[in-house]
Amino acid sequence: MKILIIGSGGREHAIAWRLAQEGHQIFGAPGNPGIAEIGQLLPTTDYLAAANSIDPDLTVVGPEVPLVAGVVDQFRAAKRKIVGPAQDAAQLEGSKIHSKEFMRRLGIPTARYARVESVEAGITALAEFDHPVVIKADGLAAGKGVIIAKDRAEAEAAVRSLGPRLVIEEFLEGEEVSFIALSDGKNIVPLEATQDHKAVGDGDTGPNTGGMGAYCDGRILPKADAQHVLDTVIGPVVEATRFTGFLYAGLMMTTNGPKVLEFNVRLGDPETQPLMHRLDSPFGEVLLASATGNLAGVSLRWKSEPSVCVVLAAAGYPGQVRTGDVITGIHTCGTQVFQAGTKQGPKGLETAGGRVLGVTASGADLAKASANAYAAIEKIHFDGMHYRHDIAAKGLKRWGPATIRTIAP
Ligand code: AMP
Ligand code: GLY
Repeated sequence: MKILIIGSGGREHAIAWRLAQEGHQIFGAPGNPGIAEIGQLLPTTDYLAAANSIDPDLTVVGPEVPLVAGVVDQFRAAKRKIVGPAQDAAQLEGSKIHSKEFMRRLGIPTARYARVESVEAGITALAEFDHPVVIKADGLAAGKGVIIAKDRAEAEAAVRSLGPRLVIEEFLEGEEVSFIALSDGKNIVPLEATQDHKAVGDGDTGPNTGGMGAYCDGRILPKADAQHVLDTVIGPVVEATRFTGFLYAGLMMTTNGPKVLEFNVRLGDPETQPLMHRLDSPFGEVLLASATGNLAGVSLRWKSEPSVCVVLAAAGYPGQVRTGDVITGIHTCGTQVFQAGTKQGPKGLETAGGRVLGVTASGADLAKASANAYAAIEKIHFDGMHYRHDIAAKGLKRWGPATIRTIAP
């Protein structure tokens, strides 16, 4: 098939890499230098015009912004096959207030919350919550619109910096799991669960990011738990919204069962990078089945080897990012490196965004997959490069070996 991939990050490079391996012809709009190595770029954000110029068999949307803006409705009106949710359903990610009220209506388990529309109301509502308390900006914020405030002063500052439209919610304790399923509006195909690492620093310290690394291992969510999430979370959403495309439930596995932290209406990034590394089914066919209402009876196979993706971030991320640092080593480091914030400059490949690369590796077990990713990183360089040293460490702690590989920063 001729497949158009919308987006320009590590997720889109991973999708392109996987589909190219299956023999599909890849186009990226606007794409990135990694996708350019395996396909053709259409340097535009007028996605329908891009599709009209190449007439693809299928279009896959990576990021949330075009989904929330209605790209799927636009493509469908033009009779083009596309993987993603309609604009209505995409509001589950576009507005945290909408998402929380939707969950309340459907009885989907989530943290207790207050919605406020002014800073004053936000400050007043803080009295209803213990510390830490979680403050969330209503709209899209690339993973950076959430502050976990440990005391009243931090909470008030967060309300002022993220307001006026906010969700304030109770802090949930537990392990976080990213659970993603593909739907065609009726049938649901779960992907294997992954675990992301949202905070910038080792040991979950520092501010939140879009995700500093993720791993995929069949043991993250036992089968019974996955079924429970399908029954109580994914199923009700698909039924209520006729959801098509990838529905991502960010879960906190609490002692009272899984609770939804957020919905995304797309594949996760970096989660997609280890997922594509492990997927053992023909992805192109499954995507086409989602776009054409043919997912009945489809299930996905996964390789037995776990996979790990460590994000290499640019100086300053997740704050003000420095760009233009020259990147070396990615083609000789011994594993697959997905490109995100990169561009071709006069001196070769340069940094061009916060999350620059996703170094992704598999291994006979999680420890080996992780060791392979970190060994490859030793061979990659750009000035200001920083990354977490404990990606997959939680899984390693749960399932062994006893010693977790951590490298002193
Ligand atoms: P969100 O964009 O809503 O998923 O929030 C980003 C991150 O903030 C999540 O991945 C969690 O790490 C953290 N977080 C969000 N909500 C809560 C909560 N209620 N309790 C604890 N941590 C949370
Ligand atoms: N890694 C989290 C996300 O894609 O939103």
